[in-house]
Amino acid sequence: MSFLRLYLRVLGLLAPERKLAISLALANLALAGVFFLEPVLFGRVVDALAAPSAKSAPRLIAWWAVVGFGGVLAGVWVSLHADRLAHRRRLAAIALFFEHAAALSLGFHSEHHTGRLARIMNNGVGNLFGLWLGFFREQLATLLAIVVMIPLALWMNWKLALLMVALMLSFATFNAVAVRRTHRAQGEVEELHHEIATRAGDVFGNVTVVQSFTRLAAESAALKDMMRRVLDAQYPVLRGWAILSVLNRAASTLTIVAIFALGSALHARGEVTVGGIVSFVGFSMMLIGRLEQLANFISGLFFQSQSLRDYFAVLDERPGVVDAIGAKDLPAVRGEVAFEHVSFGYDPVQPALHDLSFRAEPGTTIALVGPTGAGKTTALSLLYRAYDPSGGRITIDGHDIRDITLESLRWNVGVVFQDPGMFYRSILDNLRVGKPDADHAEIEAAVVAAEAAAFIARKPEGYETMVAERGRSLSGGERQRLAIARAMLKNAPILVLDEATSALDNTTEARIQKALDALTRGRTTFVIAHRLSTVRNADLILVLDQGRLIEQGRFDELIRRGGLFARLAEEGKFAPDAEEVK
Ligand SMILES: Nc1ncnc2c1ncn2[C@@H]1O[C@H](COP(=O)(O)OP(=O)(O)OP(=O)(O)O)[C@@H](O)[C@H]1O
Ligand SMILES: [Mg+2]
Repeated sequence: MSFLRLYLRVLGLLAPERKLAISLALANLALAGVFFLEPVLFGRVVDALAAPSAKSAPRLIAWWAVVGFGGVLAGVWVSLHADRLAHRRRLAAIALFFEHAAALSLGFHSEHHTGRLARIMNNGVGNLFGLWLGFFREQLATLLAIVVMIPLALWMNWKLALLMVALMLSFATFNAVAVRRTHRAQGEVEELHHEIATRAGDVFGNVTVVQSFTRLAAESAALKDMMRRVLDAQYPVLRGWAILSVLNRAASTLTIVAIFALGSALHARGEVTVGGIVSFVGFSMMLIGRLEQLANFISGLFFQSQSLRDYFAVLDERPGVVDAIGAKDLPAVRGEVAFEHVSFGYDPVQPALHDLSFRAEPGTTIALVGPTGAGKTTALSLLYRAYDPSGGRITIDGHDIRDITLESLRWNVGVVFQDPGMFYRSILDNLRVGKPDADHAEIEAAVVAAEAAAFIARKPEGYETMVAERGRSLSGGERQRLAIARAMLKNAPILVLDEATSALDNTTEARIQKALDALTRGRTTFVIAHRLSTVRNADLILVLDQGRLIEQGRFDELIRRGGLFARLAEEGKFAPDAEEVK
């Protein structure tokens, strides 16, 4: 994206309030005009006072006062509204980024660490804010002043003015060369800063690992090494731009000197008066001031450009999974689920699922078993469209899930994740994720059924107790019980239980199992489980190995068949039932 395109896109984000933005821009220009008017009035007052009868002087002074104070008041109004507009659009830019990024595919999020995303958002938005304010406060006026002053200078004295034009061309050339020479290095600098933010965020997120493996010194050293690389990349860029500013300065000085030199030659030929030279020099000083402002703005934009590009790159990222055109909400769900020749791979080279086909009748329980890494979690994640299959299709009650709106699909599938994520919020807020408008009785019932009531009561602030980032302040079992209660509150007709009770002791698991049995009655339920009873009672068992469905059937059939399932059962891969243990 070229500088101009980038800048236009920055301004384009003001479009939702374009009327106000344009009014403010025009008002700012008018105000700039008022400042030109003041010296004119000043001159007129002086003339009037010097005139034999100074009758018109009081009127002119009154006008001057009106223009002066009016300008000040209007200036306050404009800058207040420009500030408010910039603040509003900054918040809107955060919301835009947040909503967009949060809807992007899991693939995108696997590649972008939260530390990096947070940095892209904060830096991008901060720079947008600065540019918007700069636009209203000076950039526009600067640009207009240059556009107006150049023809004016040509009109005053075209020979002298050509020197100004030469100066402008040299500014433009120097800047273009500096940008071309340094933009790649500056991109590297920005990338390294992202890496630092990623690394720091990653360390904070895994602080227990860092501390228990005594990695603090190593992590600091790695961070310092990155910082050294930042400086190695940054210094040449800074050197380039320092040289540029010296060149700009030298060109300005040279131009003034040249104007004097040419002016005196022209004066000798009687083409220009001394006054003419002096006023032209005064004028060119003003113009040079503006040109230097413009050069500063360009160098500022240069150093911000990569962060702005990163911000827009996230906005340009298309979500992998979107509503199809004409997608419909799911009507009342019976719960028939079918996978038809479904294939999928996280990367194209190594497919995680091959040609998976099965049918789940409404209200039945389907158990997925197979060695670790077989693709069980992956297969079920396709059901709520965490990803779309690369081949084949998945249907619910005969509707291809790609023809259903994501919102309604996901409302109809309740999931207890293998790694249940928790928000850095209160226990109550975490439960309400399942049903935002749940009343106290509903929450209490779910919590009791999920065997979570006792531990919540033991917490110092009960339901209001804060849960640490990703639920770190809870035990694995507590986290799982909250995740089950949350899924119970969601009350969806299709359920996915991915090792939902793996972290619980036998007694607790047996008690929850009863609640889960009640919950799954009448719902199509997919369980990935390690309990013999869950597997034995399932209406259908799917045996996965290396992404392939190698056996399917009921428990007895599979045992009789003597394949992988029978072998797993024989090897004791399924934990005995909790009741049996007791
Ligand atoms: N986000 C991801 N990106 C790339 N590869 C992934 C991703 N998630 C899982 N995989 C890979 O896909 C394969 C299947 O993983 P999956 O989580 O579905 O296994 P699983 O059968 O649920 O195993 P487990 O019993 O250990 O939970 C594994 O090889 C895993 O490394
Ligand atoms: Mg899994």
